[in-house]
Amino acid sequence: MTGVAGFLGSHLADAFLSRGEQVAGIDNLLGGAVENVPPGVNFRMVDCNDRHAYADMLHGTRVAYHCAALAHEGLSVFSPHLISTHGVNATTGFISAAIAAGVKRIVYCSSMARYGRNPPPFTEDQDPRPVDPYAVSKCAGELMLRTLCDAHGVEFNIAVPHNIIGPRQRYDDPYRNVASIMINRMLRGLQPVIYGDGAQRRCFSFVDDVVPSLVRLGVDPDIRSEVFNLGPDEQVVSILDLAREIADLLDFELAPIFVPSRPLEVQHAFCSSDKARRLLGYRTTYRLRDGLAKIIAWIRAKGPKEFRYDYEIEIRNERTPRTWAESII
Ligand SMILES: NC(=O)c1ccc[n+]([C@@H]2O[C@H](COP(=O)([O-])OP(=O)(O)OC[C@H]3O[C@@H](n4cnc5c(N)ncnc54)[C@H](O)[C@@H]3O)[C@@H](O)[C@H]2O)c1
Repeated sequence: MTGVAGFLGSHLADAFLSRGEQVAGIDNLLGGAVENVPPGVNFRMVDCNDRHAYADMLHGTRVAYHCAALAHEGLSVFSPHLISTHGVNATTGFISAAIAAGVKRIVYCSSMARYGRNPPPFTEDQDPRPVDPYAVSKCAGELMLRTLCDAHGVEFNIAVPHNIIGPRQRYDDPYRNVASIMINRMLRGLQPVIYGDGAQRRCFSFVDDVVPSLVRLGVDPDIRSEVFNLGPDEQVVSILDLAREIADLLDFELAPIFVPSRPLEVQHAFCSSDKARRLLGYRTTYRLRDGLAKIIAWIRAKGPKEFRYDYEIEIRNERTPRTWAESII
């Protein structure tokens, strides 16, 4: 498994460990943290691009999950090389190493960003229409996976998670994870920052609801060569509603700071879960409010933090959001 020190990868590792499986995982710790790696994982700090440094870990592996990425959609417009290095390039390195080692099945974490310009709710039969470099990189990774798995007779599935939230998600990264960013700011007495008018609509998935379906994509012998949206479709909310819900939970007097929209941000983006419900038994058990309450408890326990501007902005011009260029989140 790649990205095992990250949010989704670490929860997925937990799920496989609790099934009594052996889990080996790698992560370069660019976005993740060692403390996220569940005890029991055979962990190595290594970059997916560095194939020879982890090839031995793949021998004898039945299913390989590729969760690693720098999943920074907004930032990708300004740091496309960084995002594709840890996107399509890292993906190609990992697929190559996994196939060379004789892995039987690869599960790839794509993103709802693949749907881009399509009308929501997004369904798996829509052709990808990526609008930003992160989405382009994710789609290129999907194509690379299909091409190489078909060429070498390896099974694969493509997971399309969307706006997952939960404990272990970074909340000090100013470039991504809107719910955690808002919680971190409000816990520090700061108003949330909203790009545009906050009318953008999204649907948030609590991690515990997503993981069981993700596991099925790896282990179900009858599910192969498929794309699945993973996450709820019952509670679509605007970003402003999200801020209101968090403020309500925190008893915080809300007066958001509105800043100009980010270039290429898709206005309304949410998925249909019909296919996952039908074929994977997907069920939503967490309402948004319940999921947010869990994250708040986790961030409170860890303590709110200063934001860390860890990633280079490659393109700085008049379109670069001031929030990033001037580190004001
Ligand atoms: N969280 C979401 O809402 C969401 C939504 C859609 C898709 N996804 C996808 O799911 C996957 C997991 O996302 P996440 O939210 O857990 O992100 P995350 O940042 O918490 O985890 C990703 C991990 O990958 C590691 N990583 C990055 N580049 C690497 C490289 N080159 N080699 C090795 N490790 C590397 C990071 O250090 C990090 O620990 C990603 O592929 C992401 O694109 C996530």
